[in-house]
Amino acid sequence: MTVKRVGIVGSGIMGSGIAEVAAKSGHEVVLRSRRQETADSMVAGLEKSLAKQVEKGKLADEERQATVGRVTVTSDLGELRECDLVIESIVEDLSAKKHLFNELDRICAEHTILATNTSTLPVIELAMDTGRPQRVCGIHFFNPAPVMSLVEIVRPLTADDDTIAEARAFAEACGKTPVEVKDQAGFVVNALLFPYLNNAVRLLEQGVASKEDIDTAMKGGCGFPMGPLALLDLVGLDTSLAILEALYEEFKEPNYSPVPLLRRMVSAELLGRKSGRGFYDYHR
Ligand code: 3HC
Repeated sequence: MTVKRVGIVGSGIMGSGIAEVAAKSGHEVVLRSRRQETADSMVAGLEKSLAKQVEKGKLADEERQATVGRVTVTSDLGELRECDLVIESIVEDLSAKKHLFNELDRICAEHTILATNTSTLPVIELAMDTGRPQRVCGIHFFNPAPVMSLVEIVRPLTADDDTIAEARAFAEACGKTPVEVKDQAGFVVNALLFPYLNNAVRLLEQGVASKEDIDTAMKGGCGFPMGPLALLDLVGLDTSLAILEALYEEFKEPNYSPVPLLRRMVSAELLGRKSGRGFYDYHR
């Protein structure tokens, strides 16, 4: 089965980015946010992002119009009923996600694939909260979704081959490169990336170098597009802390244990770009 109509639940950075990617590649997109105002502001954000691409000459104006025309917004979960695929991208909280999957399972058509964009939580726990565990998988996009080419397709023990093949085909139709990964915390990218990010905070905490020099070192020394502290600001320090906690919970590896400075910054609401300040100040 080919995915034509995609539902997206959650209005954060990832939900908006995935909506843009899916709509641009020709899918009908239904965006659901709990509040109509948030859903409307997602569309405003999408329109702004597409307008920027038109300005840069990367997108034709007709294509922009067609993309916007493929997106509808709603605060009613019931409107996801006819979707071929629903991607959940709400807060990284297992009980909130389980509750949502349970509701989606009751609402959506029998053939609908229910997917999560979680980066660390066990997909199997969500699958088992539905009456269709064979139609549940992870489809993990990276931030910023319109730019990053990778999508991790996460196969819980219950998923059938058709579901995984359809999820892969959807990622490819979005112009992304899928890789298939086992359902364990962090999958491939975050399992490797987050010990590195955590240790960058440790170096800062130990006063080994300034934040600017740590970032300059990793850009110049490893050819990374941005340094680790700037990347933590992009991902969000609260999300990063949640990812490290989930990795630590699963593996009990010291490198996954969040360093104290990261915790303190989250307590101080220094969350990165989303709050205007993290390791760097974004107000200026
Ligand atoms: N949406 C759409 N396009 C965007 C964008 C966004 N949010 N951010 C940047 N872009 C586009 C720009 O328009 C620009 O396009 P152009 O070159 O065609 O004009 C291009 O991307 C490059 O952007 P900039 O020139 O503004 O800046 P950079 O060259 O520094 O690139 C970056 C920005 C793409 C964010 C780059 O620094 C990068 O690749 N950083 C690493 C990001 C990364 O590692 N992400 C993974 C995080 S881990 C994760 O997501 C897992 C999750 O579970 C936490």
